[in-house]
Amino acid sequence: MEKVFISFEKEPGYAMKESLRSLRTNIQFCGDDVRTIMFTSCVPDEGKSTVVLDLARSISESGKNVLLIDTDMRKSVMLRRLHAKGENNKEIYGLSHFLSGQKTIEEVFYSTNVPGLFLVFSGPSVPNPTEILEKSYMKDLIDLGRSYFDYVLIDCAPLGAAIDAAVVAKNCDGAVMVVEQAGVGSRMVVECKKQLEASGVRILGAVINKVKMKQGSYYNYYYKKYYGKYYGKYYGDEKSEKHGRKK
Ligand SMILES: Nc1ncnc2c1ncn2[C@@H]1O[C@H](COP(=O)(O)OP(=O)(O)OP(=O)(O)O)[C@@H](O)[C@H]1O
Ligand SMILES: [Mg+2]
Repeated sequence: MEKVFISFEKEPGYAMKESLRSLRTNIQFCGDDVRTIMFTSCVPDEGKSTVVLDLARSISESGKNVLLIDTDMRKSVMLRRLHAKGENNKEIYGLSHFLSGQKTIEEVFYSTNVPGLFLVFSGPSVPNPTEILEKSYMKDLIDLGRSYFDYVLIDCAPLGAAIDAAVVAKNCDGAVMVVEQAGVGSRMVVECKKQLEASGVRILGAVINKVKMKQGSYYNYYYKKYYGKYYGKYYGDEKSEKHGRKK
């Protein structure tokens, strides 16, 4: 397995880490038969990639092995966001190379400088992502991930834009919807949930992201989540925490 060197744009603050820890715990309590989990949303920019990356990091910090697969071959951000560099500046291959038959499964798995964190990047964008995601190769990749890693987290395209996520969901143990609180209406969330349910995947819950909360005179963004039921309020990004401390 080749190695990539990655760095995160920012360290999550203490409160953000706490929030991720509870998300991690909620997922662990879904049972040991839920280890391949896909993340989607209704529309772009609700925070899927942010949540998946932070969660993968949090799981690896807890001493477990986690594989993150980026299936968004329409708009990949992982390489750039992680400042990923191949060992000896080697080219980094991804999912589209594998699904189109140009690379083997082993050639697209990468270990990283973060202990316990492994990656499959999306690779270059392709004209037919839905079609190649439907191939049995995708199931093979997820199944191989399941046999080697404690968790496989899968970042997907938004459901409102394409059916890619529903195609991937068929091969996963569970699905999580990331919902930006002020991003979409409840009717659209229900529609997307139905679409996911039709794939037969077990919906584990939702991460309500970018929740604007009034704290003193400040309105800030927070992570908040519920798994089956409401778990209360959680703290959010660094900027919010700084504002919080000022009060
Ligand atoms: N909790 C948060 N607080 C503040 N900003 C956030 C939060 N979560 C995500 N963002 C910001 O929102 C933007 C979109 O996030 P991200 O790329 O994770 O969304 P996405 O759902 O993966 O988008 P896409 O559908 O394009 O893949 C980014 O600039 C990210 O930094
Ligand atoms: Mg994304």
